[in-house]
Amino acid sequence: MRKTIIAGNWKMYKTLSDGQELAVALRRELYKIENIDIVLCPPYTLLTYLADALETSNIFIGAQDTYWLDEGAFTGEISPKMLKDAGCKFVIIGHSERRQYFGETNESVNKKIKAVLKHSLTPIVCVGETLNEKEKNLTFKVLDDHITNGLKDISKEEMLKIVIAYEPVWAIGTGKTATPEQAQEAQKYIRDLLIKMYNKDTADAIRIQYGGSVKPDNIIQLLKQPDVDGALVGGASLSAESFSEIIKKASEVVK
Ligand code: PGA
Repeated sequence: MRKTIIAGNWKMYKTLSDGQELAVALRRELYKIENIDIVLCPPYTLLTYLADALETSNIFIGAQDTYWLDEGAFTGEISPKMLKDAGCKFVIIGHSERRQYFGETNESVNKKIKAVLKHSLTPIVCVGETLNEKEKNLTFKVLDDHITNGLKDISKEEMLKIVIAYEPVWAIGTGKTATPEQAQEAQKYIRDLLIKMYNKDTADAIRIQYGGSVKPDNIIQLLKQPDVDGALVGGASLSAESFSEIIKKASEVVK
């Protein structure tokens, strides 16, 4: 049984007071939900405050990125050790915006995954093709590349602690969601790759989220797909109304 996991990626939005208001509203709306792992990934400046405010709640805090070393002269970076200290439980790694604008590669993704696991944080590893790659029918090739190289030398035991997020880049922030069938096809492909890399039991235990314009009106159909175990939500996680609606609807349909 894979527990559904829904994470909100706030990206570079929300000041402290806006973020606190949103977190308090979500806590109030969602306190009864037990069958979904709920994660909020605010900007770094809010992590400690929100982790404190939500400490006794059913909502976990995650970061949107990390560096791979514990400390050092790396101006502007933040380490998994610091994220753990701030109260994080999850870390998004390899988001397409990091790959596209900040030079993230499979190699850095791989180092970050290992570093995060060392501190007992759960990596949410993002993979997915761009529009150009999709149009050239390269989706599976990109998934092969992101999965096999991003997860290089990760043991079976470590793999069981990782969450994958399939995020077709053409669906992020564009309002164009992948159809449930497209999401299922890609996510089944990812699970089959994991069977080849590990084994069926391991692959069957790993949670794969879908991300890209997830909204209250498409979450149910997405979650009905056998290989969709949750969602990574950007825009719709910025309001208490839409994010709590997504979670409540999910809570009613989960396997
Ligand atoms: P979106 O973003 O829901 O706004 O498309 C998803 C993401 O980037 O994780």
